[in-house]
Amino acid sequence: MTTSISLVDLKAAYRRLQTEIDAATARVMSSGWYILGPEVAAFESEFAAYLGVEQAVGVASGTDAVLLALRALGIGPGDEVITVAHTAVATVAAIELAGATPRLVDIDAATYTLDPAQLAAAITSRTRAVVPVHLYGAPADMDAVLAVAHAHGLLIVEDCAQAHGARYRGRMVGALGDAAAFSFYPTKNLGALGDGGAVATNRPEVAERLRLLRQYGWRERYVSDVTGYNSRLDELQAAILRVRLRHLDAENTARRRLAARYDAALAGLPITLPTARADDRAVYHLYVIRTAARDALAVHLRARGIGTGVHYPVPVHRQPAYAHLGCDPGSLPATEAAAAEVLSLPMYPDLLPTAVDTIAAAIRDYYGATGANG
Ligand SMILES: Cc1ncc(COP(=O)(O)O)c(C=O)c1O
Repeated sequence: MTTSISLVDLKAAYRRLQTEIDAATARVMSSGWYILGPEVAAFESEFAAYLGVEQAVGVASGTDAVLLALRALGIGPGDEVITVAHTAVATVAAIELAGATPRLVDIDAATYTLDPAQLAAAITSRTRAVVPVHLYGAPADMDAVLAVAHAHGLLIVEDCAQAHGARYRGRMVGALGDAAAFSFYPTKNLGALGDGGAVATNRPEVAERLRLLRQYGWRERYVSDVTGYNSRLDELQAAILRVRLRHLDAENTARRRLAARYDAALAGLPITLPTARADDRAVYHLYVIRTAARDALAVHLRARGIGTGVHYPVPVHRQPAYAHLGCDPGSLPATEAAAAEVLSLPMYPDLLPTAVDTIAAAIRDYYGATGANG
């Protein structure tokens, strides 16, 4: 029998929720209202309630969510914004789209998230904000980030694109800073069937500015108060997201169970497993292991019908488009080491526990065959 286990299976979630999703999309299609309407308003209040924040504002993507959050906080040309290079390029792209200058710092090698000690060292007189990324579904060390940020008067925009529903020491991520950016790209823990995003904030004046910025800067129709964008969430995606939100906690629980199963099945091998702080609730957007034999292991798994991914193979400061940031090779050693060794194993709520066992057995075979020295 040939195995076929993909890194992610989006159709499985659709099939499981098809009755609810089809009813939601049919409702929108027959409503005659397709952009920024009642579904978006309902989703915004349901998502804000879920996060425990004052307001959520729907936008067109996660990239736009970071961009609009920064602009709504008044950040722009001349300002420096600190973030990591071990992230989706969108985090850094959005900082530049806002007109600000990204300052990239290294990660903590164990959690793959922003190293608070590096944050303090990178602050200059022009630093205005920090964008911690809750990567792979695991919260950044927010108490340390908040302490440094508050000591230096920095604004905080959490990048929650990979961490819907994650908790940091009992507190929901997305509620910890001045604003938080979410992506609803289909693979995300809370995924639409197209592009989408949202900004969460406890600051009403920031929410108000976001609502201007996402639609041409209009306060009233056809009159722009500020220079804005077209970054609207559409009604179909909002209706789908309302369905998906109702299942988010159960799906995150399924991800956590699968992660625990991987942890147990892979224990004792010469690979580094994800490390989560015991008092956090990580939501395993990705299940990422680490080994110097990453590429050979991926080939071995592929030959057995098992898909894997690398998030991310080239850190942002090493990508051609970001050479101008002047961040030399070797300047972010923990980031560069991680990029060479991380491997994402299949992870999605509908993944069968027996598939995890199959994947773990294939990984054990690899180490059995190669003398178990990584
Ligand atoms: C950490 C992170 N930030 C930002 C984004 C950007 O989101 P989007 O693709 O919806 O623009 C993504 C997703 O690609 C992401 O993973």
